Amino acid sequence: MELESTLVFDRAVKLPCRRVKFIYINFSLRINPVSEGSCTVVWAVDHYDVFLCPHTEKGDFLALDLGGTNFRVLLVKVSDNGRQKVEMENQIYAIPEHLMRGSGTQLFDHIAECLANFMEKLGIKDRKLPLGFTFSFPCRQTKLDESLLVSWTKGFKCSSVEGHDVVALLRKAIRKRGDFDIDIVAVINDTVGTMMTCGYDDHNCEVGLIVGTGTNACYMEEMRHLETVEGDEGRMCVNMEWGAFGDNGELEDLRTEFEREIDCGSLNPGKQLFEKMISGMYMGELVQLILVKMAKEGYVFQGRVMSALAHPRTLQDLLRVLRELGLDPSPEDCAATQRVCQVVSTCAAHLCAATLASVLRQIRDNKATDRLRTTVGVDGSVYKNHPQFAQRMHRMVHRLVPDCDVRFLYSEDGSGMGAAMVTAVAYRLDMQHAE
Ligand code: GLC
Repeated sequence: MELESTLVFDRAVKLPCRRVKFIYINFSLRINPVSEGSCTVVWAVDHYDVFLCPHTEKGDFLALDLGGTNFRVLLVKVSDNGRQKVEMENQIYAIPEHLMRGSGTQLFDHIAECLANFMEKLGIKDRKLPLGFTFSFPCRQTKLDESLLVSWTKGFKCSSVEGHDVVALLRKAIRKRGDFDIDIVAVINDTVGTMMTCGYDDHNCEVGLIVGTGTNACYMEEMRHLETVEGDEGRMCVNMEWGAFGDNGELEDLRTEFEREIDCGSLNPGKQLFEKMISGMYMGELVQLILVKMAKEGYVFQGRVMSALAHPRTLQDLLRVLRELGLDPSPEDCAATQRVCQVVSTCAAHLCAATLASVLRQIRDNKATDRLRTTVGVDGSVYKNHPQFAQRMHRMVHRLVPDCDVRFLYSEDGSGMGAAMVTAVAYRLDMQHAE
């Protein structure tokens, strides 16, 4: 889909049109000093500034957010009585495990049912509202409202979705019900949504980062560096899919026996190897595997091997968790367990900082500046909830790129709100285009 529009800036200067377009590129990632490699799937959304400039959109927009710990439905109301006001209603729905690994039809039927339930509750089921879909899996995006799933990640494995357009599957599930209608306008990745929402408040925001169930980032790249894209001017947002870093063997020197074991037992062996070293979905299991090995070798729990271990925070919590597991931990066992948790989460934070640093260096070099001032929009359960992850990551980024003044902006509801924002702007552009 190509859209044309007129941008109205604050000073009411009219500028020529911008277009929204989507492309694929291949992207190389350098983690200094570790290694080099390339991510397999990447897409980009053009001209992010279209989304940041004047906020003239208004109306009600729906958003779906699928890809993290929870599935959410949002209604975003944008009103404009002199000053733009954004209000939001949202509801979290569970995706039961059997649906995460069942058939694609069952998954999309469930999503449609949650949407129907949400609209019913808010009394908007009779309205055909525009909807933005945050679908946070590696996709080959062909249009603003068309995205083919390349491969499932993060514990999802529904049949007959890979290689298919997820928007078409959702439309089909809604049509089959026949009790409501919806206009699906855009599909985006959570990193992009996060960067967009943060960019709304801080126009310096040019990176979107997620550290949650999975991990990934997007950033603004110069068009002249994107060989597969026509034109040299301006910048594009590149979804890096950095969770797939290492899938071509680049991280073999760094991966431990525990990370290899996690990968072997996962639903997607050999895939998303960097993600398996960092993200929340695997962190607890990493701790568990290390402790099991320590127990087997007689270093902790008097040699008793436990079958499960949560990720504890304080020594008190730890004591409780270990006791619940039927263990009778000594003070030394608690200290050792805490130390293992600390090492695993610090390692994740530092790896994440290393990749982020390489992105910041790239942006700094693009701007040919000695000192870069930039903002990174961040979301994700690990970043938000882990008591020390954010601080450790920030510190390491500052050590690795001391010449970058980085502001980390936490994005509240970024991934879902971002889809609503993109939808609102695309909808306005589409309307203007039709006139
Ligand atoms: C996984 C997905 C990616 C998403 C990330 C964070 O890595 O492949 O698209 O952005 O998780 O949710």
